[in-house]
This record gives sequence, structure tokens and C-alpha cells, in this order.
Amino acid sequence: MVKQSVTTDVLIIGAGAAGLMCAKTAAGRGKKVLLVDHARKAGQKILMSGGGHCNFTNYDIQPENYLCHNPHFCKSALKQYSQWDFIALLEAHGIDYHEKKPGQLFCVDKAKVIVALLLDECAKAGVRIETKCSVEQVQKANDGFIVKATIGKVKTRSLVVASGGLSIPTMGASPFGYQLAGQFGLKVYLQQPALVPFTFNPAFLQRYATLSGQSLKARVRCRQQFFEDFVLFTHRGLSGPAILQISSYWQPGDKIELDLLPTIDLLAELLQQKAKKPQQKLKNVLRNWFGKKMLDCFLADWKLDFADKALAQIAQKDLQALAYQFHHWELKPSATEGYRTAEVTLGGVDSNELSSKTMESHKVKGLYFIGEVVDVTGHLGGYNFQWAWSSGYVAGMNV
Ligand code: FDA
Repeated sequence: MVKQSVTTDVLIIGAGAAGLMCAKTAAGRGKKVLLVDHARKAGQKILMSGGGHCNFTNYDIQPENYLCHNPHFCKSALKQYSQWDFIALLEAHGIDYHEKKPGQLFCVDKAKVIVALLLDECAKAGVRIETKCSVEQVQKANDGFIVKATIGKVKTRSLVVASGGLSIPTMGASPFGYQLAGQFGLKVYLQQPALVPFTFNPAFLQRYATLSGQSLKARVRCRQQFFEDFVLFTHRGLSGPAILQISSYWQPGDKIELDLLPTIDLLAELLQQKAKKPQQKLKNVLRNWFGKKMLDCFLADWKLDFADKALAQIAQKDLQALAYQFHHWELKPSATEGYRTAEVTLGGVDSNELSSKTMESHKVKGLYFIGEVVDVTGHLGGYNFQWAWSSGYVAGMNV
């Protein structure tokens, strides 16, 4: 490749969701924008998101749906560019979407329609995109930054870091953004995989091996947080939306608690049945809520051998203990699956280092951080893309 010397108004590093949104917005304001990415293609995570259909936002976006050391930080960007703005953009491009689960919006077609939309908007606004382009060095200059990249030397007034988090390294994830923040003396919170399945010890896996692939609805708790949704048994532990959500709050060594019957009071139900049909076997009553295989696993694991008896023969304290166990199943995950499968990265550039209105660094004028590289992590359900769109937009409006 012939090395060039380029001068631009804005250099954006990372052509993911946040970088593409920032590029289109800045170029739409007449700025000269260069967007670089070391991956082969732009927007790779968008393509693989939401099971290939991209859960691009949520009807109900609230600051409470985000984890951040400063819970107020995300408010301004989310207000300046809301879910309704992104929905309007999709509609203007004639992209069909549907509400798959309450609030969660997915494309009807493949996620590539979103990447195509963003690339189209970037092309129309005159953004120059360079993929397979790595950044080797960044230096502050008087009126901006000098960046050494694969394509050559880039002189830029504004530098936007949109290099994402650490999840899925095979898709181009790198610690670049955290390192650059460190280079300029910005505080960075320790990173941790989030929205990620749990792994368990071999004894647990053996006890529940036959349930691999089966799921049930449960309320999962950890550190004063809880989520009610499906939990999936896997050959390495537990996954499913409720587990992914709680993983963002879990710390190594923590226990999680599962309420396997969150919508009923099991003891009250059992006592009612005991009064109505005392000769019914407890096990048969429990079959109202669990399949045979699953119930057998729980009863064997918890050594509840009296479940074969008729309700009349079981003491109330035993029914109480059994009901408690179903409502408070405590488990200690060994670990998470890590960045290999995590959807997002917790931690990152301290939001107190940035203006919540523009994403510009307080310390280094002209330096911006947007998207997942910032210490803002959304719940499952389209919240992470909305953060990428909103933070990308506000930076694009201010570079
Ligand atoms: P993103 O990771 O998208 O982009 C960063 C870009 O920077 C990449 O293109 C990368 O190659 C580039 N880069 C990194 N280091 C670089 C360097 N040193 N030099 C040059 N370029 C560099 N969220 C959601 O809301 N709904 C969903 O349905 C899903 N689904 C989903 C599925 C899976 C499997 C994953 C892994 C993640 C999701 N997410 C999600 C999360 C969502 O994908 C994520 O939050 C956003 O993509 C973050 O956008 P960014 O632009 O910040 O980073």
C-alpha cells in the first residue's frame, strides 16, 4: 500500500455501530471525515447481533437499563438521539422491523440492512472509509492529533475513539481504546465480560447433563438485582436471557439465586392440593410445573426422596423446605464463558472524564470516546446499540 499523508477534520477509529453513526452525523454537518477500522469489513458486530436480525433498539429506553459508575451520564446522549430517532431513520430507509419481545425491536430481514443503511448514509455524506487499516501511533499536536496508520500519516482536528470493547476477539475486538485513554491520562475502569453465560463445576454439569438444551422461566437474583426470563441449561453451565442479564452484576465468587416458580406460591399450592386430594403423590403435583426429566434432576440433586409419597404422608415442614428450595435455588457459578461469547464489556473509559453532552474528553480537547469503549453497558434488549447510536450521534454533532 502506498503511504499517504492525509489531513482531515475528523478521524474516527472503529467502524462499528458508534463509529458509523458518528461518521454519518459529522459528515452530514459538512466535516471532512475519515473512518478507519482494522477489520476486513465495517459493522461486523451488527451483522452477527440479535441472532442475525439485530435488536437495534428498545421502545423503552431508560437510564436504569445501563450500568455505569455515574448512573446519570447516559441521560443527555439518550435524550439528544433517542430510540425514536433511530426508528425514524430506519423508516425513512423503508426497513421493516418488529417487536419480538416486549419493547425489543429487530429487523425483519437480516441485520445487513442496517449496515447497508449506515454505509449508504456515510457514502452520501462523503465519509471516506478505510478498512484493514491499523493505527500504530497517536500524538497530540497543537491543533489536533497526528496519527500513524497503515494508510499513512493522518493529521486530524478531532479524534474519535469508537473501538468498542473486548468481546469476540475474532471479530476485531481490541484493547486499543483503553490503551489510548491511558496514554492521555484518562481513568479507565477494569473491564469484565458481561451478558455472558455461566460455567459450572463438573459435579453440577454431571447432575444436570440430561437437561442440556432445556429451558425454564425463572427469576434470577444477584447483588440486589433480579431478572425474570428464560434460563437455559447448557453442556457447560447456564445461559439464556435471565442468566445473561444477571451476569452483568455478578462478580467472581458470588452466588446466584433462582426462583424456579416466580409466579406462584408453591407452599400455598401444595397445601391447597393436600386439603383437596391428600392421596395425590407430591411428585405428580410438581409435574404441573416441570417436565419429568427436569423434575427428576431437581429432586435427585436436592435429595427430596419423600416426593414419591402421597401429600397426606408428608409433614408440613417438609413441604415448606421443598417449596423454599424451588423458590431459592442457590448456585455458585465457577466462572463465565469470557470474551469468547460475551455480548459486551463492562467497565471502560470513566464517564467522569467525558462531557455527557458531547463525549469529548475534559482533559484533552478534540479527543472523543463513544460506544462500548466507554464505561456504559446496557441490559440485553437493544440497549447497547441505542447507546452506540446516541453517543455516536452527539459526538458527530460536536466534532
Ligand atoms: P463495535 O465493537 O461494534 O465496533 C468497534 C470497531 O472498532 C470494530 O469494527 C473493530 O474492528 C474496530 N477496532 C477495534 N480495535 C481497533 C483498532 N485497534 N484499530 C482499528 N479498528 C479497531 N447489542 C444490542 O443492542 N442488540 C443486539 O442484538 C446485540 N447482539 C449482540 C450479539 C453479539 C454476538 C455480540 C458480540 C454483541 C451484541 N450486542 C448487541 C452488543 C453490540 O454489538 C455492541 O454493544 C455494539 O456493537 C458496540 O458498538 P461499538 O461501535 O461501540 O463497538
